[in-house]
Amino acid sequence: MTVLKSTADTQGAEFAANRDAMLAKLAELEAEHAKAIAGGGEKYVERHRKRGKLLARERVELLIDEDSPFLELSPLAAWGTDYKVGASVVTGIGVVEGVECVIIANDPTVKGGASNPSSLKKGLRAADIAAENRLPVINLVESGGADLPTQKEIFIPGGRTFRNLTRSSAERIPTVALVFGNSTAGGAYLPGMSDYVVMVKERAKVFLGGPPLVKMATGEESDDESLGGAEMHARVSGLADYLAADEEDAIRLGRSIIRRLNWHKQGPTPMPVVQGPLYSAEDLLGIVPSDLKVPFDPREVIARVVDGSEFDEFKPLYGTSLTTGWATVFGYPVGILANAQGVLFSEESQKATQFIQLANQSDTPLVFLHNTTGYMVGKEYEQGGIIKHGAMMINAVSNSKVPHVSVLMGASYGAGHYGMCGRAYDPRFLFAWPSAKSAVMGPAQLAGVLSIVARQSAASKGQEYNEEHDAAMRAMVENQIEAESLPMFLSGMLYDDGIIDPRDTRTVLGLSLSAIHNGPVKGAEGFGVFRM
Ligand code: COA
Repeated sequence: MTVLKSTADTQGAEFAANRDAMLAKLAELEAEHAKAIAGGGEKYVERHRKRGKLLARERVELLIDEDSPFLELSPLAAWGTDYKVGASVVTGIGVVEGVECVIIANDPTVKGGASNPSSLKKGLRAADIAAENRLPVINLVESGGADLPTQKEIFIPGGRTFRNLTRSSAERIPTVALVFGNSTAGGAYLPGMSDYVVMVKERAKVFLGGPPLVKMATGEESDDESLGGAEMHARVSGLADYLAADEEDAIRLGRSIIRRLNWHKQGPTPMPVVQGPLYSAEDLLGIVPSDLKVPFDPREVIARVVDGSEFDEFKPLYGTSLTTGWATVFGYPVGILANAQGVLFSEESQKATQFIQLANQSDTPLVFLHNTTGYMVGKEYEQGGIIKHGAMMINAVSNSKVPHVSVLMGASYGAGHYGMCGRAYDPRFLFAWPSAKSAVMGPAQLAGVLSIVARQSAASKGQEYNEEHDAAMRAMVENQIEAESLPMFLSGMLYDDGIIDPRDTRTVLGLSLSAIHNGPVKGAEGFGVFRM
């Protein structure tokens, strides 16, 4: 067993500057998270409370075990769009009666809890997490259904919400709907497709069409209660399995449903944790330079994340721009791949490929710590087969069957983002630090490439190249790409599962690994054709 020795100068000026920059980014992040927590704003929150109702987050808090953590997912969904930050729904993983569940709670203070395109993406992501990790799903329902003005973007793809619920059930993953309020039209299929349904008396309203629509359709005169009230569904239609006296009672019933699931995790149990990291998580604030061009040693991060700071490095003398090795996090064995010098060469790609295969041979989950500018370009490297070797690594990542978790610490550019298990490669979870940046390439490089292409195009047509326009174009493109590379923007687009405080990395990895182990952990038995 090798115990990592930190050489970081945690008292130095550079460290202090990095730390200040990270704290400033965290303060900005806090302000954005506060927007999500504020929901629809004071007016709507007050109205909701006056109606004697709990807020979405209060419902979640009451539902989960006392003092247990809630791993909130995609809190900044819809950031940078016309919709409210958070996308009118709260999603995350919480422990209910000792069972890790995916919880999806509509926020009725935002447009009556109606789902816009970002809410849909966020809900579908939560459903994917439930399915991939074999987690029971609890929907806390109070929603005006589809956000009608945006129906073209959500009506057709939104069908998956209901398909996912019943597919979960077919996989013997339980689904529970606690209905607190409106659940109309498409929304009626949330309880309709769930295994267990609880409705709150005099509050839940579940119908395919409300009284005005029924009047239009058939001329029938009706009222909310007889069309879709909780009492009616509990006593007449049978859609409600349990009638709750109030919101707290619905939550109590939800908890008792989970308690009776006889739930067993299928992954191996973690080893007992003898010791946490030997170095303080506080130091994680100062390790990443604010200028990502300056490399940092990922072992400094690993030493502050893994049990006992113990890390058995694999191939430490070969392909040194990528650090690979074995460790445990809260007793869960993991293989770690961490970028050390930014660029990935052929050696690093081959080393990563072998390491990923080894993890699959031993059913060991993988953690990818990103700080890469991508695969090396240039004549020497092309002739040396960098495409084949990068492809090899991407093949291994794509066909690996052990669970993957990615953390974007710094840069995650180009195909390096793919090889390190970027979003499209389906890591079970992907989190970003506030210092992360991800794009096809760096802003200056991208603007420079565009400039060279434009220059060549002008030359081939015999036109004079306008340098002033070029400078303006480059500045504009650089600003745009920089803004689009930032974690809040990417989080808003649901390209990660959340931006985390670097100090929480160990906790977040531990919660993720624990959730993952609800399902079996099994490596791949075959890979695609490796181009040697
Ligand atoms: N799409 C878009 N906006 C919606 C919406 C929807 N489905 N449902 C509600 N909203 C908006 C309202 O226009 C209102 O906006 P405003 O405050 O800017 O005027 C805001 O959300 C709050 O709605 P309000 O009706 O005041 O809230 P409420 O808590 O009293 O009632 C509902 C909530 C959901 C019961 C009610 O708004 C409703 O019946 N909505 C339509 C439900 C429906 O038929 N959906 C069909 C979906 S397929």
